[in-house]
Amino acid sequence: MAGKIKIFDTTLRDGEQTPGVALTVDNKIQIAQALADMGVDIIEAGFPMNSEFEFQAVKKIAKEVDTTICGLARALQPDIDSCIKADVNLVHTFISTSPQHLKYQMNKTQDEVYEMAVKAVEYVVDHGLPCIFSPMDATRSDFSYLLRVCKGVEEAGAKVINVPDTVGVMYPSQMREFIAKIRKEVKIDLDVHCHNDFGMAVANTLAAVEAGCNQTQVAVNGLGERAGNADLEQVVMALEVLYKIKTNIKTENIYKTSKLVERLTGVRVMPNFPIVGDNAFAHESGIHVHAMLKKAETFEALKPEMVGARRRFVIGKHVGIHGVDAKLKEIGMDVSKEQLNDITKKVKDLGGMGKKVFEEDLVAIAEDVIGKVPEKEAIVELIDMKLNFELGEKPVASIVLNVRGKEKKATEEGVGPVDATLSAIRSAVGEKDITLDEFHLDAITGGSDALADVTIKVSNAGKMTLARGVHEDVVMASVIAFINGLNRILKI
Ligand code: KIV
Ligand code: ZN
Repeated sequence: MAGKIKIFDTTLRDGEQTPGVALTVDNKIQIAQALADMGVDIIEAGFPMNSEFEFQAVKKIAKEVDTTICGLARALQPDIDSCIKADVNLVHTFISTSPQHLKYQMNKTQDEVYEMAVKAVEYVVDHGLPCIFSPMDATRSDFSYLLRVCKGVEEAGAKVINVPDTVGVMYPSQMREFIAKIRKEVKIDLDVHCHNDFGMAVANTLAAVEAGCNQTQVAVNGLGERAGNADLEQVVMALEVLYKIKTNIKTENIYKTSKLVERLTGVRVMPNFPIVGDNAFAHESGIHVHAMLKKAETFEALKPEMVGARRRFVIGKHVGIHGVDAKLKEIGMDVSKEQLNDITKKVKDLGGMGKKVFEEDLVAIAEDVIGKVPEKEAIVELIDMKLNFELGEKPVASIVLNVRGKEKKATEEGVGPVDATLSAIRSAVGEKDITLDEFHLDAITGGSDALADVTIKVSNAGKMTLARGVHEDVVMASVIAFINGLNRILKI
């Protein structure tokens, strides 16, 4: 096995072929920059021949992003010319070698395809650029023909041969054997590109590394055609932690890069996705949490900090007293042993009734038990509000509050009605240090009359609280959440 593996990222090329994904040039630059910052060795920025837009995007990335930028080209001169004109540092050229593709996709003979492959590589090399060659659908190709093509392109000057499992039909032991056989015959570097049609992409990529590949093609969040490509996060962390093989990836950038790609592509990461899913470092079961609080390794295969994520204790019906205690401490609430028992029982009862218990519910339950914020003693109360929202104008909100028994008024504009209203509330309260750190909006039911469920995080002088507001109108839900939060934070 190689001592170090190069990471070739194809989020912006194969990843962008994910159904429904269309990135703007700016989006692509942002992602490319994040990939470069994370230490990816090669970024496949796109397929310049595909469109003028794609050409411009690749050219801009090649100009602005400081790592090896690769362009994809079919084994055709105009495609390669397009990569050269886009100023990439590396050309990845490909042609299919499987009987299915030869017959139905290209209607060409093996000899014709061999010629095209060799000529394409020679053309790239003659133009002074390094070349990666991919025999597309390699894993379904006739093996002796595949080897003939690999040796031909090696002789033609290819720097790397990439072995694509184009339709994701391999399994790990088979992949290991397949790559080992190629490794014996070919001297140049070997790369691997696995699709996830049977959920084997990461395992097959690692099997290829075991058999001698020293580069892997991966995509952030496993994006890519159909079921996607091998996932960057999983491949890198498995290499680093399980195989103890180094990469150049700054692993602490992994979580934020995944979030950026999630946001810009609009493809949500499954909660139970390894490494970067919402639940990847979440612990709910009481037994687990108890042990985790003593020693994190008991139920954690890797530390969340390694990938820039954080451990979360979820409050649900499986929560135990230690989990509730840890959560309360995190929120900054001190409770006695009896109070802790009471709070835990209430949380478990709610969970048992099928209710999802959020952090803010815990605050409410705890406050109820402690009697810290008696309902009638609210510091801030809404008396009146008016919202003026004209097309083309900034919305303006006027608020009247009762703050500690005194009437306070304020009018503010904002980028939207929620922003204007919350700004007016903050001005009327007059506490300059109060900040709204997080704002999260969920629709509880479908349709435009859905109940809006707003969760916010408010802080003041180093203290933080969570609060929630539910209303059929999103502005009112936000107002309720903010005023709930203010009543809590001003009491802490
Ligand atoms: O899946 C595939 O075969 C590809 C090639 C272009 C490498 O994406
Ligand atoms: Zn692919």
